Amino acid sequence: MTTSVTTTPLALTPITVGATALQNRIVMAPMTRNRAIGNVPNAMMVEYYRQRASAGLIITEGTAPSADGTGYARIPGLHTSEQRDGWKQVTDAVHAEGGRIFLQIMHTGRIFNTLNTPGGIAGVAPSAIAAAGDIWTDQQQLQPHDTPEALDADGLARVQQAFVDSAKLAIDAGFDGIELHAANGYLLQQFLNPHSNQRTDAYGGSVEGRARFVLETARAVARVIGADRTAIRLSPWNQYNDQPDYDEIDATYVLLARELQALGIAYLHLIDPAGYGAHGVATRAAVREHFRGTIILNGGIRTLYTMQDLLASGTADLVAVGAPFISNPDLVDRLRQGLPLSQGNPATFFAPGASGFAEGYTDYPAAEIIS
Ligand SMILES: Cc1cc2nc3c(=O)[nH]c(=O)nc-3n(C[C@H](O)[C@H](O)[C@H](O)COP(=O)(O)O)c2cc1C
Repeated sequence: MTTSVTTTPLALTPITVGATALQNRIVMAPMTRNRAIGNVPNAMMVEYYRQRASAGLIITEGTAPSADGTGYARIPGLHTSEQRDGWKQVTDAVHAEGGRIFLQIMHTGRIFNTLNTPGGIAGVAPSAIAAAGDIWTDQQQLQPHDTPEALDADGLARVQQAFVDSAKLAIDAGFDGIELHAANGYLLQQFLNPHSNQRTDAYGGSVEGRARFVLETARAVARVIGADRTAIRLSPWNQYNDQPDYDEIDATYVLLARELQALGIAYLHLIDPAGYGAHGVATRAAVREHFRGTIILNGGIRTLYTMQDLLASGTADLVAVGAPFISNPDLVDRLRQGLPLSQGNPATFFAPGASGFAEGYTDYPAAEIIS
């Protein structure tokens, strides 16, 4: 007779992150889905997030803290009472299912076109340099990015206050916390990179100068809603949205890791730089060395086996999964049961299908669960 000892995979065990207790360590990564008509969360979005509440933590799609941070078509905001009330429906639905949810605050900075921003307001950025590449507009399809206005001292204070006010509204709307989007080439990362930050004042020029706005914003938000409900997303070596590599990437992210460690934030969400070669592996290790708090790692993670590797080695404390959550609302259950994953349709990731906005959004079914 043989006895088998089964241990629960680490990914399926509970963990507390800052002020929030999670049922497992599998996080739904933030994903823009462009279903927020008029930039206000709606009933379809409530249903979408409710369906995915078995994730240990949901991080919402990137959400604008201000009109001038709303660079994309149909992304939600959180800077009006109508948007707060819309998001409250989402957080209530997720909590009713036993889930937890953080708002991702995304100021798009120079990634914008005035056809997308409310009232055609100009985007703002560290420097008045248009990002290379095109952006979707519902009126005129793909258009070049417009040139942003460079933030002056008043502008810096105003944008920072918008992050703080949006974080406060997020707590009012029932979110468990907020994640500052300092990745993927949006406003906060635009400050970090000398390609998009050519300022000559205290917010540019050196590693410390370019990191200043990100760190000041994180501290300002943490002061108001608590560091244990404040988190951040970083993406070293990721060139997305016209963010070319530069000499001081490691120094930049080590500085951020150290200062965020001192601040005591809920978690640091790292888009895995190891996907960008040996230098990325080194950066990942350096961030882990200098940030001893909770790290969520993301990028191409698909199996419990890979998750076990990352969690048991201490490389990460949680893992985030993006694209598979689109077509597998019950992703955690499918992994637990060893069930196959469904493929999503990329044509409806950011746009409606022929039958409307629900297509490719709320119409992916859960698998039949065995137990
Ligand atoms: C449809 C889609 C929308 C996304 N939108 C966002 C976003 O709003 N904010 C963000 O930080 N990352 C966004 N991402 C990146 C994902 O969070 C994640 O980093 C990426 O998909 C890699 O993880 P994966 O391999 O598990 O999909 C998006 C990705 C996809 C596929």
